[in-house]
Amino acid sequence: MLDVAVLISGRGSNLQALIDACAQPDFPARIVAVISNNPGAGGLERAKAANIPTAVVNHRDFEDRESFENAVDEELKNFKAKFICLAGFMRILDGRFVNRWKDRILNIHPSLLPSFKGLHTQERALEAGVRFTGCTVHIVRPEMDDGPIILQAALAVDPEDDADNLSAKVLELEHIIYPEALKLIALGRVSISGNKAIIDKATYPDKGLISPDPV
Ligand code: GRF
Repeated sequence: MLDVAVLISGRGSNLQALIDACAQPDFPARIVAVISNNPGAGGLERAKAANIPTAVVNHRDFEDRESFENAVDEELKNFKAKFICLAGFMRILDGRFVNRWKDRILNIHPSLLPSFKGLHTQERALEAGVRFTGCTVHIVRPEMDDGPIILQAALAVDPEDDADNLSAKVLELEHIIYPEALKLIALGRVSISGNKAIIDKATYPDKGLISPDPV
């Protein structure tokens, strides 16, 4: 069983997807803590409703990134977390922290990385006129929205789409691939080789566009 801490800053819909997956009897991971840098994050209520311990480490209470991250690290130790899932966590993590947790931090990003790193991804995807958009679960590296890709899900952009409904459609895919990626990792089916994640071929999930295979 993989003991996971989920770091959030906001509404926590991906957190909810992870909570729901972990509630399944055979799921190989469990959430030992939800940590938020934002005391008002809606996701904290979701954690409480699921009886998951929570902690708030408010970045505003610290004078620099390092002391904030050390406080987060302290909480992770208290909860005996062995793995971290970032789920809408809006703070950039320093290289020191990321290297301390090397290959043990997972993130979800609402674009088909390496395209559209950063914020406002669907607005930028629409401006660029892409035909497909989607989401990516990846291992975190010190550079923002960078690191070995575990799973991606894609959908075709409808000419009628605006950024809001595209974001909503992508979010539905996020809620599918984030638990799926965590499951693959917790089962030990993923190995990291340089910039790439290699998934045991026999266990590729069979979910249409969700695939580590090139389309
Ligand atoms: C999601 O779109 C996720 O991909 C991005 O931040 C958003 C968080 O949403 N990293 P939620 O808090 O999980 O609902």
